[in-house]
Amino acid sequence: MPLQSIGWWSRPIAYVERARARYGKRFTVRLFGSPPFVMHSEPDHVREILTAPPEVLHPGQGARILEPVVGSNSVILLDEAAHMEQRKLMLPAFHGERMEALTGLVARVTEQEVDGWPRDEPIALHPRLQALTLEVILHAVFGLDAGPRLDALRSKLTPLLDFGARPLSMLPQLEPVIGRLGPWREFMRLRAETDALLYELIDERRAAGDEEGDDVLSMLLSARHEDGSPMTQQELRDELMTLLVAGHETTASQLGWTFERLSREPRVLARLREETAAGDDDAYLVATLQESMRRRPVLPNAAPRLTMEPVEVGGWKYPAGVLLVANSYLLHHDPDVYEDPYSFRPERFLDSPPGTYTWIPFGGGRRRCLGASFAMLEMRVVLRAVLRQGGIESAGARGELPRRRNITISPAGGARVRIPAAAREPVAA
Ligand code: HEM
Repeated sequence: MPLQSIGWWSRPIAYVERARARYGKRFTVRLFGSPPFVMHSEPDHVREILTAPPEVLHPGQGARILEPVVGSNSVILLDEAAHMEQRKLMLPAFHGERMEALTGLVARVTEQEVDGWPRDEPIALHPRLQALTLEVILHAVFGLDAGPRLDALRSKLTPLLDFGARPLSMLPQLEPVIGRLGPWREFMRLRAETDALLYELIDERRAAGDEEGDDVLSMLLSARHEDGSPMTQQELRDELMTLLVAGHETTASQLGWTFERLSREPRVLARLREETAAGDDDAYLVATLQESMRRRPVLPNAAPRLTMEPVEVGGWKYPAGVLLVANSYLLHHDPDVYEDPYSFRPERFLDSPPGTYTWIPFGGGRRRCLGASFAMLEMRVVLRAVLRQGGIESAGARGELPRRRNITISPAGGARVRIPAAAREPVAA
């Protein structure tokens, strides 16, 4: 078991590829301190897992590692009726038209960030993309404008979220035992300070009757439970942290992979630049993002679902207490599902759009990523901005290896690229 745990953490992709080669599309991983994970990557089995009744499989229980940061009301941690109730409160804020209304704001924030990136020298894009996606969330989700509060929250959240990248934070069950140790004390201090800032923001916005804005917090302030009551301060705090944790590192890593791949795919890059220059629709750009998510899904599996009662998937019977996992990485790299799965070929999605149970970077069923439209919008805007500013070149000979950063998998070298100095054009929305 210790060897499995080390392999799983240190070489996440190579580990599952090797296991599939050895044991087939279904195999079990036993990790220290956790129920067994059973990996599935056959499309029919993936569908069975993602559409199982809510009382049978509990993804919320599988996500407990996030609790110290997101709090116990988080939609990610809940199951059954409590999950549905919270999800219903949040859904309207993420609808297509709401997202469209945010496009201009996201483009403005993006333009400012991308403008500040150095030109004509090798740079690690990943940390810059983390700063960018944090900025986008603080403006578009929290509704903050430039000023001291934005600065204060940014300065607390950056180290707080970074804490999540350290292995200790993966073991919240140890919190009572190691609560007095240095890193945990520091984490808890930062969390208390961040919470104080968030409560202040929520109180002020509520007192001002601020429910009309385009930002996500405005929508959450106007949301009502079935009995007509508004979301509590604690619920709002937990969901804001949830959106931050779920939406910041994921989008930054996915963009990191997109640029890492594109810097090594001159043919795709040339076609993208042509499309952007011609001002055509962005079908190829969207297909490129879909291909990036197929080839490098930053969450290599949907949330593990804990079996609450005996259940059958793909003809196998499982007892209660097992984590069933729809493995996106393996599904996306199955030659029975995708022709030539290791090549980067956005064209495959121009011919036929991604399938519900064959392309699952956002998971699926009633737990499908709430921020999928938001993430797609943001990634479209950022990719277009970089293409307009002269594109991207590789800053190293070899492709970067996948590295686990807490729950996401990002490029080990930080997505090192070079952005050529070119005439800077304004970013179109
Ligand atoms: C490229 C970026 C992103 C990727 C790849 C991604 C992927 C995922 C995945 C795989 C899940 C689990 C779904 C399942 O198990 O069926 C998830 C859940 C979730 N995501 Fe995302 N996500 C991204 C961006 C975002 C953004 C920007 C937000 C919000 C601003 C967000 C909010 C959420 C929430 C709230 C959930 C929990 C949904 C629930 O349990 O009902 N995500 N995401």
